Amino acid sequence: MKNNIYDKSYEVCSCHNVSLGEIIFSIQKKGARSIKDIKKFTDAGTSCKSCTNSNNDTGEIKKNIYLNNILKKINKG
Ligand code: FES
Repeated sequence: MKNNIYDKSYEVCSCHNVSLGEIIFSIQKKGARSIKDIKKFTDAGTSCKSCTNSNNDTGEIKKNIYLNNILKKINKG
């Protein structure tokens, strides 16, 4: 994942209208360290779970990125 190809307004969680920017904020500024933390801070991933990882994505149109990818990338950097 290259940060510059993803717009922070990209809606990662469509159930709760949570953007990539909000998820990054929850990790970098609120200290989320797990998907459970992201769920707690943003509500992303608390309904259908399609946004949590590609294996859970049951949508017809697959997402560009998932919560597990975002966590992994940011925690690495
Ligand atoms: S798309 Fe995130 S919980 Fe449904």
